[in-house]
Amino acid sequence: EIHGNGSSGKAEAKETIAFAFDIDGVLVKGNQPVPGARETIKMLQDKKIPFIFLTNGGGLTEKDHVARLGQRLGLTLDEKQFVQSHTPFRELVPKYRDKNILAIGGHGQQIRNVAASYGFNKVITTSDLMYEFDHIHPFPEMTRAHHIEHGRLRADSLQGHGLAIDAILVWSSPRDWCLDLQVITDLLGSSGGRFGNKSLMAGDISLPNHGYLQDGQPKLYFCNPDFEWPTQHEHPRFAQGAFREALRGIWAYATKGKGELEYTMIGKPSETTYTYGEKVLQKYNDHLNEKLEVPRRIKTVYMVGDNPESDILGANNYESKYCTEWKSILVESGMHVRGSTPAYAPKHITESVVGAVEWALKDGN
Ligand code: G3P
Ligand code: MG
Repeated sequence: EIHGNGSSGKAEAKETIAFAFDIDGVLVKGNQPVPGARETIKMLQDKKIPFIFLTNGGGLTEKDHVARLGQRLGLTLDEKQFVQSHTPFRELVPKYRDKNILAIGGHGQQIRNVAASYGFNKVITTSDLMYEFDHIHPFPEMTRAHHIEHGRLRADSLQGHGLAIDAILVWSSPRDWCLDLQVITDLLGSSGGRFGNKSLMAGDISLPNHGYLQDGQPKLYFCNPDFEWPTQHEHPRFAQGAFREALRGIWAYATKGKGELEYTMIGKPSETTYTYGEKVLQKYNDHLNEKLEVPRRIKTVYMVGDNPESDILGANNYESKYCTEWKSILVESGMHVRGSTPAYAPKHITESVVGAVEWALKDGN
């Protein structure tokens, strides 16, 4: 139980409900707002009910991404409320701050800038590699111009074939799958993550697992498990999870089934992401409390999502670190199709975010 701070004269905390909103398929579809989303979020802002955005999307800094969402919804939103797929990558900074990381996905320089803004000091993209080693990509004709524009010569670290990559971080959906699949497969088959340097262990049938992934290859990280996500197109489109499955398939073939792809994956439904999100939500509530006469303690968090596999499963499984109850609400404006049975049952199903918030306000009081 939390008591008010006597010295500031604040009263004992009251209880409040809170929300974690998925974005794609709940608040927007592509660049179009979902009807009623704007008014619903505005109402929560006016009532000072704490909420965060918890999205498997990414590709921009938190500041730019929340600004883009705000623009789409016609609202002013706070960066402090925003957790996206790669936000928890911040926790990897102490480990890789001055190590070479290969940043995969997203558009052009954006991912390099996002990674640099988190504190990764040595960020390399596949465009840099294309710029330096044109022959790395067997079919460059459709994408070369983009890579030349967005890659840059890193004479300091991109020395011939000596450059070693310590970690591969997939930040957002890759754009040039052929190049990215090729480069990651090269690195996973390299010695010590050095480009152009094939591991002598890989494929050695006298070694356990035929010697795959035992020669200091870089660690691989994904941040969005979603196989697909809803856009303005009538059917959902491939997301980062589709790329991961393509890589898994290629790796299984390349290793004749001996080398299971090893990776770490965050993003909803992972516990890492819900833990991170909950921390941000609690902090945001503290921030709101600073302006309130009577501070409030979060009693229940309603996760409003459209994807049973990420939003609902994650919320259902999550064990709060703050003794808070989490309840999942599934909406029918995105991945989940009305009338079908979701793979993971939510506490409540409703048409859109409008009904979800209405239901939660009743349920929580
Ligand atoms: O790529 C975006 C995506 O997979 C889902 O975003 O907001 O529905 O978690 P969201
Ligand atoms: Mg969604």
